[in-house]
Amino acid sequence: MNVNGKAYRTIWTDEADRLLVINQHLLPHRFETAELPSFESVCAAIRDMLVRGAGLIGATAGYGMWLAAREAPTASNDAFDAFFSAAAATLKETRPTASNLAWAVERQLAAVAHGGSPEEKRRIARRTAQVIADEDAEACRRIGTHGKTLLERIAARKHGDPVNILTHCNAGWLAFVDYGSALSPVYAAHDAGIPVHVWVDETRPRNQGAGLTAWELSRHGVPHTLIADNAGGHLMQHGMVDIVITGADRVTRQGDAANKIGTYLKALAAHDNGIPFYVALPSSTFDFSLNDGVREIPIEERGAQEVRIMTGKATDGRVLDVQICPDETPARNWAFDVTPHRLITGLISERGVCPATEAGIITLYPEAENRA
Ligand code: MRU
Repeated sequence: MNVNGKAYRTIWTDEADRLLVINQHLLPHRFETAELPSFESVCAAIRDMLVRGAGLIGATAGYGMWLAAREAPTASNDAFDAFFSAAAATLKETRPTASNLAWAVERQLAAVAHGGSPEEKRRIARRTAQVIADEDAEACRRIGTHGKTLLERIAARKHGDPVNILTHCNAGWLAFVDYGSALSPVYAAHDAGIPVHVWVDETRPRNQGAGLTAWELSRHGVPHTLIADNAGGHLMQHGMVDIVITGADRVTRQGDAANKIGTYLKALAAHDNGIPFYVALPSSTFDFSLNDGVREIPIEERGAQEVRIMTGKATDGRVLDVQICPDETPARNWAFDVTPHRLITGLISERGVCPATEAGIITLYPEAENRA
């Protein structure tokens, strides 16, 4: 997508084969890129959320395995493989909820296993990292095409009034390599001249909605309004939301979806108000080995400081951290929740739109059938 007239992905390599990313800690107040020069720096970038969002975490992990291959000993295949699989285990532990991370690491392990020498394994890891990133971007582009038809249908009955979409957190291009999942249909519709307007949940505690989704939509010229996290139910009761589209970090075989904390409450409110609730995801976010998402999806618990401290721009332009609670007040910080499939109208993936049920998913993903 474009930033200041220049096309960017969220992760890329330059002519000198340096790995570069957009520094998401600094947005929306500053746009800067950062280099990830080593395997360790990739792990830190994922853990500390310099890069974040399911698809981008997966793509970064793919490149991280390439850097691990570059740092691995070349004395023998055994020495290389031992180093490489230890790196895989370390990387998988950086963040637990998004399936894209383990998916990308496993894909690298499987690809590199075909290499006959450490040098060949390195070349395979380099190529596979690029393929993972390219596939992520292409999957998201296609999600946009499929999701746009849903928005078109709603627009047809609105006689020129904008389609009001509510979204939670950031599932735009910053959460992937390009385009995004939940926002890709929005961009596709906007670019096709369909009037759209997005209600952007601020998304406490890290405010990815306020900081990242609002920034992306502004850059692309998409009309949007920032709302407090708890406002969605009220808007739905008053006919101000036509459709909810969120992203996902892990979706089970029966269609239960883990997404940013608070998503479940939006789904309950949408259900109560008869508003369609869609989850957009690339194939790499499915985890067909799981069934019951509430019981089985691992939910990341992050540090209490993210709840106790907020970052923002002061009136003098300085970006500051401020504490919002008494010094002695403890906090807990669950990063994701699970929306049961009964509350989800449909899933939008690069293969099309399907009901959020095991039977519905199998129509698009026959390979899911035997993965219990
Ligand atoms: O903690 P994050 O920022 O990595 O969380 C991921 C998200 O932004 C959301 O849960 C998103 O909707 C799914 S990722 C496309």
